[in-house]
Amino acid sequence: MIEDIRKILGSATLAPSGENAQPWKFVVKGNTIFQFNVPHRDQSLYSWGQRASYISNGAALENIVIASKELGYNPNIELFPDSDNEHFIAKISLVKDKVNKDPLYEYIPERSTNRKPYEIKLLDKNEEKELLSSINDENTVLHFTQDIKKKKLLGRVGSTNERVMLSNKHLHNFFFSHVNWSKEEDDKKKIGFFIDTLELPPPALLGFKVIKNWVIMNLFSKIGFHKVIGLQNAKINSASSGFGVITVNNNSPKNFVNAGRSMQRLWLTATKLKLSMQPLTGIIFFMYRVMANDTEKFSKKQVHLIKKAYSDIQKSFNLDINNTVAFMFRIGYGGKPSARSTRFSIDEVTEFQ
Ligand SMILES: Cc1cc2nc3c(=O)[nH]c(=O)nc-3n(C[C@H](O)[C@H](O)[C@H](O)COP(=O)(O)O)c2cc1C
Repeated sequence: MIEDIRKILGSATLAPSGENAQPWKFVVKGNTIFQFNVPHRDQSLYSWGQRASYISNGAALENIVIASKELGYNPNIELFPDSDNEHFIAKISLVKDKVNKDPLYEYIPERSTNRKPYEIKLLDKNEEKELLSSINDENTVLHFTQDIKKKKLLGRVGSTNERVMLSNKHLHNFFFSHVNWSKEEDDKKKIGFFIDTLELPPPALLGFKVIKNWVIMNLFSKIGFHKVIGLQNAKINSASSGFGVITVNNNSPKNFVNAGRSMQRLWLTATKLKLSMQPLTGIIFFMYRVMANDTEKFSKKQVHLIKKAYSDIQKSFNLDINNTVAFMFRIGYGGKPSARSTRFSIDEVTEFQ
């Protein structure tokens, strides 16, 4: 049993997470896995109320479910079993049973973020249909578009993140303190962005090393450099095959865990179809902060940009106030990413009791 649980948790740790924060911890007692959110791993302005971490934990939970079935267990899941502990994500009891294996299992190790420019090519009808039917949770909805005008707009929405981040001292410093400049540094820290996964062409990489210094970046942004980078990224984003959002009906932690489970199924399905994906979520998480009137770290101009970008997402997908956007992504044909990010080992995130 313990060897099976180690395999299952090995799959869990391959889940994606914002800044590769891996905000999860597992406690194993007999046939039961207790999954917890680890809030201190994700203290950025990006994760208002731990919502990004709930999505990441949802993705890890979905991997647990898929891997359990692969090993012949029926996972019985209780979400948020202790109403006094908002970080106790799930209690998962494993029972040997006759279960149908999930064909997405083999794509768990292959899935990764791909930040390359994608080919200018639309998805065909079958690919689109398979993606749209990848989500089987009644409380989360996938909205998808390949419309050229909407992609232009959404490309800009995605790059508003860089525009805001590069002109905001807190976000800038947070981001650059999470860049790992070599494989050795990434293997040591295990959290953050390994520089090669950012897919910067050599001239941009040089510029990136210069603007990691806030004093220099601040001078550059006075002459609009953050807008130029934003425009370049908008172009790359817009040239993808399609854009999608996952919505839920309110911003409860449970909904965000379920959105994370759905995101993971979608991403594994995309991997199966040999499609590349990049989440573009900065603006969404900034908007939760704006909605909660928690804007002291943003300038008025930045708040305006964030509101405009969120409203462009709503317009593009015909959303109203009953649709809370939990996740946005671009998708297309990007080939293989140049590098992968590191993970904590199973023992570093698990307590066996
Ligand atoms: C909730 C969430 C938000 C994310 N937001 C972004 C984003 O805005 N931009 C981006 O390039 N990657 C984003 N990512 C991707 C993570 O950076 C990535 O999953 C992590 O670095 C691990 O790499 P991997 O996906 O290749 O395993 C996000 C992932 C999650 C789960």
